Amino acid sequence: MKVKKAVIPAAGLGTRVLPASKAVPKEMLPIVDKPAIQYIVEEAAAAGIEDILIITGRGKGAIEDHFDRSPELEAKLLSSGKEEMQRQMAAISHLANLTFLRQQETKGLGHAILCARQFAGDEPFAVLYGDDVVLGPVSATGELCAAYEEYGLGVVGIQPVQLSEIGRYCTLAVKELADGRFAVSDMIEKPKPEQVLSPYAVLGRCLLTPEIFPILENTPPGAGGELQLTDAMRTLARTKGMIGVQYSSKRYDMGNKLGILQATVEVAAAHPEVGPQFLAYLKEFLQNQP
Ligand code: UTP
Repeated sequence: MKVKKAVIPAAGLGTRVLPASKAVPKEMLPIVDKPAIQYIVEEAAAAGIEDILIITGRGKGAIEDHFDRSPELEAKLLSSGKEEMQRQMAAISHLANLTFLRQQETKGLGHAILCARQFAGDEPFAVLYGDDVVLGPVSATGELCAAYEEYGLGVVGIQPVQLSEIGRYCTLAVKELADGRFAVSDMIEKPKPEQVLSPYAVLGRCLLTPEIFPILENTPPGAGGELQLTDAMRTLARTKGMIGVQYSSKRYDMGNKLGILQATVEVAAAHPEVGPQFLAYLKEFLQNQP
């Protein structure tokens, strides 16, 4: 079955990037000239996703405004001869069929996904974490969709991380099936050192079938007292198995200050308008560092 739907959970409070995220949703923090969530919607659209549900919450209205048409702005751009910019503004609202749903309490990523039950209906759906931007020539969501179409199982986007860091992530029991594709038989969220299954972690993307919903309903709150999506996926991995896809593009953690800086520097360096000037500035700046 072809994957046509995606869910972007974006209701989290973003406490790691305060105070920037106090009044501005962290998903709206810019990477050079686009908010993080636009890169994410573009990645989904590039994978052939047609319908996207964004899970929002209080104070996240700017996300809806960003993907809405803006007739006054567009008229102004046209009347001042900025046709290309007008075209770009109009295109934002046509990336996909976007709908929005409020998660009334931030009870965890698993709870946010439960809110998408009606939207998913009986179809598989991709999940793109609203604060993980994955950039590169290949859509990571597209790679997950291809694996789902081949194996018919739920899929997690994975990457190896430093063993010293794995305690912050969800460690996976994996067995390589093909280049960059793995059978996943178990996972543990925020493992203690003795629980580490491998350096591979779930990072920012997954693809689920509606069978996740009854599992989520029966999953107790986990790490941090929140309903963890990975706890429910663990049940799925242990019973039916899941597929891990080591996606080929690069992930930037926009929920973390260093991740925001890395994304900004790398996108700026390759940006057609400001890239050359920015690189020259950066070189000079670094030369003058002690
Ligand atoms: P995070 O745990 O990274 O987001 O969730 P957070 O809760 O905002 O983080 P901190 O620790 O306070 O900084 C991963 C994704 O799941 C969404 C977040 O918006 C983020 O995109 N999320 C998280 C929800 O939609 N609802 C929740 O209840 C929790």
